[in-house]
Amino acid sequence: MRIVSGIQPTGNLHLGNYLGAIRNWVRMQDEHEAGACLYFLADLHALSQPHDPAQLAASTLEMVAALVACGIDPDRSVLFNQAQVPAHAELQWLLNGTARMGWLNRMTQFKDKSGKNREGASIALFTYPVLQAADVLLYQATHVPVGDDQKQHLELARDIAQKFNVDFVPGYGEEDSDVKGVFTLPDPIIPPEAARIMSLRDGAAKMSKSDPSDMSRINLVDDADEIMKKVKKAKTDPEPLPSEAAGLEGRPEAANLVGIYAAMAGQSVDQVLAEFGGHGFGKFKPALGELLAETLSPINARFVELKQDREMLGAILAKGALKARELARPTLDAAYKALGLVRG
Ligand code: TRP
Repeated sequence: MRIVSGIQPTGNLHLGNYLGAIRNWVRMQDEHEAGACLYFLADLHALSQPHDPAQLAASTLEMVAALVACGIDPDRSVLFNQAQVPAHAELQWLLNGTARMGWLNRMTQFKDKSGKNREGASIALFTYPVLQAADVLLYQATHVPVGDDQKQHLELARDIAQKFNVDFVPGYGEEDSDVKGVFTLPDPIIPPEAARIMSLRDGAAKMSKSDPSDMSRINLVDDADEIMKKVKKAKTDPEPLPSEAAGLEGRPEAANLVGIYAAMAGQSVDQVLAEFGGHGFGKFKPALGELLAETLSPINARFVELKQDREMLGAILAKGALKARELARPTLDAAYKALGLVRG
């Protein structure tokens, strides 16, 4: 089993990132043998949208601190950033020959992010999913933990891997042939409870670091008082909580808060409602605020401390990159060779 996943170093991690991705990364690390998991900062992907270089550099280190604070152990997981592993960019170019315009044209993330400005979008935004395919194929990933919104990109990675193997590995996929491909087809792992964590101000919008209102999200840097304040001010409706999940239908804000409680407590929504059903938010919100503060406070404290030590954060990335380069080499070499590219 080889688990590979990436996250963009956007800075300012929030509860949505934690419950949707990082907590699951930590769980997978803890469940598998050392070295099975590779986690990286997708700093090359950050070039797909307008960015500030100084900010990118700072966010990259900050994100390492956040991941380690959340429980990623650089001795057990390979933790690195793409920019220090040139094989990512190299393999992307090799895969550009296999990926089809028609496939990329169907990617909903490109449509969403380019919006009405398709002509002005960067080429990197268009080919973003090919780099993402390179990220995982490079390491023969068998499993890729991602949020629901990345499922389509994972399917593309499988299509690219399959077409490459069929086109460039003689005998691959033929009847009775056991020829192995250059690439493994990866499976997405979408955690069931990666329930989309929504904004505290609007149950229809995802919790996001780009929301102008800081009250809309719980940041990993928020202390216990801030967390409690934000939960208490979270938008709700005047009804008491229902006693089962079906009663949350049409109540997106209530459903979001109950979903957050369930995810944090490791309970089902029905279990939470068995406890709080019939009660108003005056009782539920303080309980939720406390639960959040309890779990996030130690993470927050570690994060604040780790963030200061830039040298150590740089050393973690250097060590991770060394290991990643070593793991990437055989597959990259095999891809060059399969394509007939002569190298020395
Ligand atoms: N596109 C992913 C996201 O926005 C980040 C990412 C980049 C990724 N490369 C990856 C995730 C490879 C999984 C595997 O969430």
